[in-house]
Amino acid sequence: MPKAKEVKILGLGGSMRKPSHTLTVLKMALEAAQQSGATTDLIDVAELELPLFYDTKRLEDFPNSAYIQAFLEKFKWADGFIFCAPTYHGTPSASFKNALVFWSSCPAAPIFT
Ligand SMILES: Cc1cc2nc3c(=O)[nH]c(=O)nc-3n(C[C@H](O)[C@H](O)[C@H](O)COP(=O)(O)O)c2cc1C
Repeated sequence: MPKAKEVKILGLGGSMRKPSHTLTVLKMALEAAQQSGATTDLIDVAELELPLFYDTKRLEDFPNSAYIQAFLEKFKWADGFIFCAPTYHGTPSASFKNALVFWSSCPAAPIFT
């Protein structure tokens, strides 16, 4: 019988608040994914050292571009995602959205490659 393909799940979320409820929930969801056989990784937005996204800048123009590239590589690695961020005034928090915008809009991001 062929071996099932390994499924890789990336979790992104949390908040700057300690303790973060959304981070707790995200960890629980990743644990459930692991129990179902997935390999998981977690990106806690409070640990991220991302600048604010700047849409006319190229990746290499950011001073910490190697760090940003490593962050984007995690998205390439994943087969699927679990996002868990707080609602601030009716939308996901700014720290979460900034991370997501880097992934989805940066010219070096997987969506463009
Ligand atoms: C600035 C701010 C704005 C918020 N706006 C909303 C909102 O619009 N709707 C809502 O249901 N909760 C809102 N909340 C509550 C948070 O979404 C909620 O407490 C969340 O669980 C916090 O997650 P965390 O523990 O991961 O920081 C707001 C909280 C803050 C600090």
